[in-house]
Amino acid sequence: MKSKYTCPICQDTGWIQLKGGVKKCSCQFRNMSSSIYKRMNIPKRYQEKNFDNFIINKKYKHHLIIKRLKDYINLEEYKKGKGFFLVGKPGVGKTHLAVALLKELFLKKNIVGLFYDTRSLLFKLKASFDGSESSREILEEVVNTPVLILDDLGSERLSDWARDILHYIIINRYNDLKPMIITSNIELKSKNEDELEDSLEERMGSAIASRLSEVCEILPVKGQDMRGSKLLELQETKGS
Ligand SMILES: Nc1ncnc2c1ncn2[C@@H]1O[C@H](COP(=O)(O)OP(=O)(O)OP(=O)(O)O)[C@@H](O)[C@H]1O
Ligand SMILES: [Mg+2]
Repeated sequence: MKSKYTCPICQDTGWIQLKGGVKKCSCQFRNMSSSIYKRMNIPKRYQEKNFDNFIINKKYKHHLIIKRLKDYINLEEYKKGKGFFLVGKPGVGKTHLAVALLKELFLKKNIVGLFYDTRSLLFKLKASFDGSESSREILEEVVNTPVLILDDLGSERLSDWARDILHYIIINRYNDLKPMIITSNIELKSKNEDELEDSLEERMGSAIASRLSEVCEILPVKGQDMRGSKLLELQETKGS
């Protein structure tokens, strides 16, 4: 039977009752999608991603990763400036999880964070870096947003300029106890101190790596590359 409510989950109240309080219903996200996604800068491809449509493979301990991310929100650990460093191979779902976390923070805690692909952020800043207000405004927004996602950090070797900008952002956020959620394909620190293994420490310097390792819990994300996977196609067909 068709429900008389537009949203059968919250019966159009916009809220869901939980044991310890209430949370915004996901329909609120659908209704206000374009403006809120725009404010958070979530790319179109990831706007529908959430914890519920992340396919769990227990072999890769996905259930534990999701539990950890949900606990982080429930325990309000972001208030202490803590974040995550999601590291793993391409296509395993790091960006999906980071966006899911950002959306859940809005739904449960009304926090409007900011998503940036690191390379695009640097490009945007560089393009407007002529002393104009706009680059300063972007930079201030990135430094001050309550939760910042830096997607794909360390995906390339950085110029001195890019390194300086990232230093400015990371050190200011670290000093102000503002959480950062970082995704990366490379480890934060080299596992073997004697070998010059590719790591964020090597690319960005030990001052940054040391601060990030203090405030970002490392969450290795394992799994298969889901890009083009039949499982994902099936899920996307079901969802549409
Ligand atoms: N376990 C999963 N369940 C559902 N979808 C997944 C899962 N893992 C990945 N995906 C999907 O696969 C695609 C690629 O995932 P995503 O972009 O998050 O990978 P990534 O780890 O960030 O890769 P990269 O390092 O290349 O940036 C996305 O559409 C994402 O939603
Ligand atoms: Mg990614």
